[in-house]
Amino acid sequence: MNRATFWTRANLVAALTTLGILMGSATTRAADASDIAEGRSLFMEKGNCQGCHGWAGDGRKTDNQMPDGANLRESALDREIVIMTIKCGRPGRSMPAYDRFAYSGDGRCYGMKEGDLKNNPLPDPPATLQLREIERIADFLFARVIKQRAMTRAKCVEFWGSEVAACGEFSK
Ligand code: HEC
Repeated sequence: MNRATFWTRANLVAALTTLGILMGSATTRAADASDIAEGRSLFMEKGNCQGCHGWAGDGRKTDNQMPDGANLRESALDREIVIMTIKCGRPGRSMPAYDRFAYSGDGRCYGMKEGDLKNNPLPDPPATLQLREIERIADFLFARVIKQRAMTRAKCVEFWGSEVAACGEFSK
């Protein structure tokens, strides 16, 4: 077989598709234990997501001064939308935007700019987060919170890595 017949159009398309799949899987690699642990700590501390969403993400906020957050355990959102929600918040709905440049003018968040927030205010985020930090929070959420159903004692121990006091409230 000479080169010209080997590289038919169909072959080329197949090769490019395979390359695309390989590159795609490299960017969406599976989260490992340290990614999940880092995401949990960003959720609890730097991002203080737990202040509104609760440490288990179930909407039982840990800070009475904070607005009520959604129950993330029941969220049906996919990873891409979760990341966008963390970056851009939900204007007018008490979910802060964690991307420092969310509304700085390039329209990256829903095509809106600072001025568009007058009628749809956003609370200030406890801190801004970099994209890689938001990715780690998503790793944590998809491993331990989103679509994980209600918290149980066993899940609580797995969540914290040991039998901490917070798990005492779950009988089973
Ligand atoms: C000041 C309170 C507050 C903080 C802090 C906060 N959230 Fe939220 N979040 C909300 C509220 C309120 C909603 C529901 C918004 C709505 O009604 O659309 C929400 C919605 C969401 C949603 C969409 C859920 C769904 O299914 O529609 C995600 C995901 C989310 N928050 C993740 C986070 C993460 C991750 C953090 C930390 C980096 C965080 N939130 C910090 C208040 C907060």
